[in-house]
Amino acid sequence: MSELFKTQEITYNKGEAIKVYEDKDIASAYVAQRIARIIKEKQNKGDRAIIGLATGSTPKGVYKELIRLHKDEGLSFKNVTTFNLDEYYPILPIDDQSYVSFMKSNLFNHIDIDPKHVHIPDGTLSLEGIQAYCDLYEKKIVDFGGLDLQLLGIGRTGHIGFNEPGAILESRTRLVTLNDITREDAKDDFGGKDKVPTQAITMGVQTITQAKEVILMALSQRKAEIIKKALEGEISADIPATFLQRLSHVEYILDNEAASLLSRTE
Ligand code: PGA
Repeated sequence: MSELFKTQEITYNKGEAIKVYEDKDIASAYVAQRIARIIKEKQNKGDRAIIGLATGSTPKGVYKELIRLHKDEGLSFKNVTTFNLDEYYPILPIDDQSYVSFMKSNLFNHIDIDPKHVHIPDGTLSLEGIQAYCDLYEKKIVDFGGLDLQLLGIGRTGHIGFNEPGAILESRTRLVTLNDITREDAKDDFGGKDKVPTQAITMGVQTITQAKEVILMALSQRKAEIIKKALEGEISADIPATFLQRLSHVEYILDNEAASLLSRTE
């Protein structure tokens, strides 16, 4: 590990892989490097890299760094296929608040990915068509050989993707109802909580845990309480992120503030 990514290694009472960084930019650069490494390893083998992406404020720094790696260091995304975690329902892709718009403005418009290799759940489907569409979303991931890496944020409800409290470990891609806190947190984007959609399409907890690697990022004090519950609380559908506990292919990337309430053994 280079000096740039020197972390405070926490010896944590359950032994999960937790890396805590002073600075969110360094944390984001570390995650971007991980993604870049997978892309290059696959390029060398003539394979596609299948990457699960997230939206929200947390991964923005990762995307900024990936754009820099593309522009300054020639990282190509031509062999990359992406699957986003979720999308509001209903929503038009051209709406500013859609995750299609988010991904275009924060990443896809600035790199050389082919739009035909991008998958984001469709917020325009008729209700009757949703489950078949979700089943196909799952099938496409499986047909590509599974996700090489899934990037995650965490909501204050403990959601991963839009798997809100109550979501079970076996859940797959489906239509869900958004939690009240999640809609409250999205109100600034939509210009009022009443304008935030009440539903979303999300990959399930099982879809996420089946990725070959999972990185959950949490930055800022706002996430300290839920990070403590997610990592140290009892495993329960009340906090879906707890389902990631003890999975050896999950890594938590935190800044000092998000990690500030965790128990340490040293
Ligand atoms: P945030 O959202 O990155 O905007 O805090 C994270 C999430 O809800 O998963």
